[in-house]
Amino acid sequence: MKPDLNIEIAGVRFKNPVMVASGTFGYAEEFESLIDLNALGGIVTKTITLEARPGHPPPRTCETAAGMLNAIGLANVGVDRFIDEKLPFLKKLDTAIIVNVAGSTLDDYVEVCRRLEKAGGFDMIELNVSCPNVEEGGMVFGTDAALMTRVVAAAKEVTSRPIIAKLSPNVTSVVDMARAAVEGGAAALSMINTLVGMAIDIETGLPRLSNGTGGLSGPAIKPVAVAMVHKVAAAMDTPIIGIGGISNWTDAVEFHLAGARGIQVGTANFINPDVTMNIIKGLARYLADHKRPSINDIIGKVGEKP
Ligand SMILES: Cc1cc2nc3c(=O)[nH]c(=O)nc-3n(C[C@H](O)[C@H](O)[C@H](O)COP(=O)(O)O)c2cc1C
Repeated sequence: MKPDLNIEIAGVRFKNPVMVASGTFGYAEEFESLIDLNALGGIVTKTITLEARPGHPPPRTCETAAGMLNAIGLANVGVDRFIDEKLPFLKKLDTAIIVNVAGSTLDDYVEVCRRLEKAGGFDMIELNVSCPNVEEGGMVFGTDAALMTRVVAAAKEVTSRPIIAKLSPNVTSVVDMARAAVEGGAAALSMINTLVGMAIDIETGLPRLSNGTGGLSGPAIKPVAVAMVHKVAAAMDTPIIGIGGISNWTDAVEFHLAGARGIQVGTANFINPDVTMNIIKGLARYLADHKRPSINDIIGKVGEKP
């Protein structure tokens, strides 16, 4: 029997748990000629802000051991152009669409959500309260519990769509931040965003990113992310979407066992645009090999022999 990869998060159905992470898949149309977008469980857009943003000047990315640093600075077309030019393409796809939203102020978050709500044609909002690469907003909201609750609650007021709070690993207690997000009304949590990092060119003496610091992603952060998913899953029942260094199906299984219902793939898309397709196939094979009828049978099962 073919294993069932369907999952449900906050009333939204996903044909499989494999999604692409914000900022690593553009607005999806860039990948149309490379993979079957409809085979994905879900697509998370690049972060959308109220005004268009050019982002930071180059260099904005650099390779590091087992990962990369980026300080893109939330470059995006702004919410109005997103609605006019990008959303029509996404609307036509047969996969869950999650729009990732950020703002410099609480009012910005609310206004972006309000305009998106009016436009419709997507399934969920993911609040990026964890970007380490912008001076205002971003991680400020995700590292202060009271602000986290307020921004989620304010966004919830203006949208009928379930809200996912994307958590930062750059905090003392990720469980406290998860609780704060749920208190504000988050229906799901995605974790983790990047870890603040820095690399220096030893010949020029300059930081390798124009912004000085950036966000570390890729395989280097996977154990950190698995530990955080496990910790939050043990503390609460809110659905979790695991993110951080997922590069193949075995990584995905680890996140599911730790307690993630869905997973997002980020940096690995840059290495192999087909990676998500391989993960979907590998998950199905793993379930069949272990005689598990559904992906839901392995979620949170760390400590039990599969
Ligand atoms: C180049 C790049 C751009 C990113 N841009 C965003 C973004 O716009 N919004 C966001 O919430 N996360 C962004 N992220 C973070 C990813 O969505 C993800 O949380 C992080 O990279 C960890 O997953 P990974 O190790 O699979 O890449 C970005 C990551 C990278 C590498």
